[in-house]
Amino acid sequence: MEERRLGPVVGLGTWNTFRGDAALAGEIVQAALGSGGRCFDTSPMYGSEQALGSALEARRTDATVLTKIWTPSPDEARGQLVDQLAWFGTIEVEQIHNLIAWEQHLPWLEAEREAGRIELLGVTHYSPSAFGELARALRSGRFQTLQIPLNPRERAAERELLPLAAELGVAVIVMEPFGSGSLLRRPPRPEQLAPLRELGIETWPHALLKWALSDPRVDLVIPATSKPERVAENAAAGEPPWLGPDERALVERLAGA
Ligand SMILES: NC(=O)c1ccc[n+]([C@@H]2O[C@H](COP(=O)([O-])OP(=O)(O)OC[C@H]3O[C@@H](n4cnc5c(N)ncnc54)[C@H](OP(=O)(O)O)[C@@H]3O)[C@@H](O)[C@H]2O)c1
Repeated sequence: MEERRLGPVVGLGTWNTFRGDAALAGEIVQAALGSGGRCFDTSPMYGSEQALGSALEARRTDATVLTKIWTPSPDEARGQLVDQLAWFGTIEVEQIHNLIAWEQHLPWLEAEREAGRIELLGVTHYSPSAFGELARALRSGRFQTLQIPLNPRERAAERELLPLAAELGVAVIVMEPFGSGSLLRRPPRPEQLAPLRELGIETWPHALLKWALSDPRVDLVIPATSKPERVAENAAAGEPPWLGPDERALVERLAGA
């Protein structure tokens, strides 16, 4: 396997957080950059791209922008890229959102990469029912990144996709590390987290992010928050030490997996 291409690092998801709220985007992005974060994931679906672009403007060179093409229409897709280039300059990672029309979009996106407007191409899907198709896309050898859900209660990607990504040198980006919040509803008691404290883990969100990043096949985890004060807590999980098998198993038990 190649060195991890993007990490290991904690980035920031932006689904359902600041949408078009420029002031909140500014606060969240400043909190992320201030705590060493540099990877920001967005999509035309989230309504957050323009606000993210404005929030990053002065610090654009410190950031890695991951966005997506999200439409079956070739014309609309090109329009999405035109907007993104206006908001972000170049795009470090352009992903095909939920595999929509991926075989149609791939040739023109590759031409955009050749022209230097995109650095890496990727695919995403949230549903294990689409993982077979994701594997087929990866086997084309034409994608450099893969975005999938992974958390102690959602491990379907471990079966085929993580080994395949490692074999092909594809960077893995983890969406939904908190199960879109469902894993945080009933957190373990502090004494249950005590065995993890010597690894620098103080909170349950921190434990879940470390659980994902401790898999050496994972590059980047992108938790989303609408609360600027939570950004630094999440970002702190991007530092070693990583969890070993026993500590990972403990997190799985605490998650009720
Ligand atoms: N198909 C795709 O390409 C796809 C699909 C799904 C997701 N994604 C990407 O992956 C990102 C992450 O997934 P997600 O947003 O579904 O879910 P997630 O990151 O697993 O969970 C987000 C939830 O966790 C809460 N949270 C975050 N940090 C917290 C903390 N320190 N303490 C307590 N609560 C905390 C947030 O609430 P607060 O806002 O109240 O903090 C929010 O409700 C998305 O934003 C998006 O960028 C991509």
